[in-house]
Amino acid sequence: MKKDLLRKKSIAKILQDSQEGFGDGENHGLNKVLKVKDLTFMGIAAVIGAGIFSTIGEASYNGGPGVSILFILTAVTCGFSALCYAEFASRIPVSGSAYTYAYASFGELIAWIIGWDLLMEYAIGNIAVAISWSGYFVNLLQGFNIHIPAYLTMDYLSAFKANEEVMALSKSGSSLGTLSENTLNAAQAWTSAPSIGGLKIIADVPALLIVFLITFLVYIGIKETKKATNAMVILKILVVLAVIVVGFFYVTPANWHPFLPNGFSGMMKGVSGVFFAYIGFDAISTTAEECENPQKDLPKGMIYSLVICTVLYILIALVLTGMVNYKELQVADPLAFVFERVGLNQIGYIISVSAVIATASVLLIFQMGQPRIWMSMSRDGLLPKAFSRIHPKFKTPSFSTIVTGLVVAIPALFMNLTEVTDLTSIGTLFAFVLVCGGVLLLPKEQETEGSRKRFKMPYINGKYIIPLLITILGIAFYNEILTLFSFTKGWDFIKEQIPFYLFVILAVCMAVLSYAKNLSLIPVLGLLSCSYLMTELGYTNWLRFLIWLGIGLIVYFCYGIRKSKLNQQIN
Ligand code: ALA
Repeated sequence: MKKDLLRKKSIAKILQDSQEGFGDGENHGLNKVLKVKDLTFMGIAAVIGAGIFSTIGEASYNGGPGVSILFILTAVTCGFSALCYAEFASRIPVSGSAYTYAYASFGELIAWIIGWDLLMEYAIGNIAVAISWSGYFVNLLQGFNIHIPAYLTMDYLSAFKANEEVMALSKSGSSLGTLSENTLNAAQAWTSAPSIGGLKIIADVPALLIVFLITFLVYIGIKETKKATNAMVILKILVVLAVIVVGFFYVTPANWHPFLPNGFSGMMKGVSGVFFAYIGFDAISTTAEECENPQKDLPKGMIYSLVICTVLYILIALVLTGMVNYKELQVADPLAFVFERVGLNQIGYIISVSAVIATASVLLIFQMGQPRIWMSMSRDGLLPKAFSRIHPKFKTPSFSTIVTGLVVAIPALFMNLTEVTDLTSIGTLFAFVLVCGGVLLLPKEQETEGSRKRFKMPYINGKYIIPLLITILGIAFYNEILTLFSFTKGWDFIKEQIPFYLFVILAVCMAVLSYAKNLSLIPVLGLLSCSYLMTELGYTNWLRFLIWLGIGLIVYFCYGIRKSKLNQQIN
C-alpha cells in the first residue's frame, strides 16, 4: 500500500506520455502556437482581475497605505514560487502544472492531492471571478438604463441574509438608513423573487452566462483564446496605467500618514485579498504543450508577467491610498470609487468597463488551465479516460472543457463571493508550498546539450543562510511570537494559532535540513514564505480546505489508486 502511494513517475515517462496520449489514435496532440509574448500576456491576463479591481479595497481599509508593503512581500513570495514553477516547467514541459511536478517528485498520492487542490484553485477561484464579473456587469448595464431584476443577479444566501437583516431592523422599529445600498438591494431581490413550490428563484444568471461564453471560446481553440487574451490584456494595461498616471495628480500626500495605521497585524489582514490579486502567473504552466519552446519561454513568461504586475500593483496601491483616506476604501469597486470621490465620474465609469474586461480575461485563462489539469490526471489513469479526449478539429481537451464549464457555471449561480475568495488563496498557497518542496526533491540531472539550453533556477547554498535568517527573525519578533504561545487564553484563541504552531515546527525542520543537506536557498524561502502566508488565513479556512482535501482522498481511494496507469504497469 505504502509503495502504491509513493510510486513516482519518471520525468522521461511523463514526457513520453504527453507526446503519445493514449496511443489509441484518438488524441492528436495540442497546437504549439504560444511564444514568450503570448505567455507573458496570458500571465497578465490571469493575474490582473478581481483582486486589483475589488479585494484591494478591503486590504487597504485594514492595512492603510502600508498595503503597498504587503504587495511587495507577497510579490517576493510569489517570485520564489515562480522560479520553482519555472524550474519544473523547463524540466517537465507538459500540461499538468504542479500536479505533474508533484508526480515526479513526491509520488502519486501527493500528486493527486495537489491536482485536487489545483481544481479548487481554478474552479473556486473562477466562481469568485464570475460572481465579481457579474457585479460589475450589472452596474454597467444600469449605466445604459438596462435593469435586470435583482433576483436574477445574486446568490440565494446573500438575498436571504439581507432580508433577515431588514426584517430584524423593521421589527425593532429601527431605521433602515443604517443598511448599505447593497443590503437593501439584496433584500429587495428576496421580496420580489418569484417562487416555485415555496422555493424562491434567486440566482446569479450573468455569472452563469459569462462562464458559458468563455467556456465556448476555450472549447473552440487555443488560437482564438490567444487572440482574445492579447486584445483584452492591452486594454487592461492601458486602463491600469491611466489610473496610475491620472490618479497621481489627485494624490494628497497627507493621506499616506500614518503609513501603517493598524500596524503589522492590520496590514497582514489583507493577505488573502492581496495574494488573490497575484494568483494566475502559475496558470500559464498548464499551456506547456501548446508552447513553441516551453523550456525557455514558459519561465520567461511567468517571471515577466509577475514583475509587470508587481510594479503596477504597488503603484496602484500607493495612488489609491493617496487619493482618499484609507478608511473610505472598504468598498467593492475601490478603483472606480476613488475617481468618483474626487469628482471624475467619467473615469470611474471607464474603470467599471475595464473591470468587466479584466475579470473576463482572468476567467478565460483559468477556464483554459483547468481542463488541462483534468487531462493530465486522466492520462495517468487517476480520472476516467474521457477527460483526456482531444477534439479532432479544435485540438482542445473537449470533454474536460465542458465539464469545467458546468463545474464553474452552476455553483456561480448560487455561491457567495467572500467565502470563495479565501478558499482560493489557501488552496493556491498550498500548491505553491508543494511546488517549492518538490524542487528540493527533484533528481539531479545529467548535463546534456538540451539541459544546457533550458532555464535553470540558480543554486545558492542555504546551509548557513536559512538557519541564520530563522534565528534573526525569531529574535526580532520574539515578543510577538511569545504572545501567540499563550496557552492560557483558551481554545478559541489556541485553535486560531494552530497553523502558526505548525509553521514554527516546519521552520525549525527546514533550518536543520538546510544545514544538513545544503538545500537550495530559493525553494526553501518559497516554501517558508508561502507557509507563513497560509498561517494568516484563519482556522475556518483551514478547516474547509482540509474537508475539501478529505473528499479528494475518498475519490482517490475509491477510483484512482486502482485505475492508475502506474498501478497497471507495476501489476
Ligand atoms: N489574480 C486573479 C484576480 O485577481 C485571480 O482576479
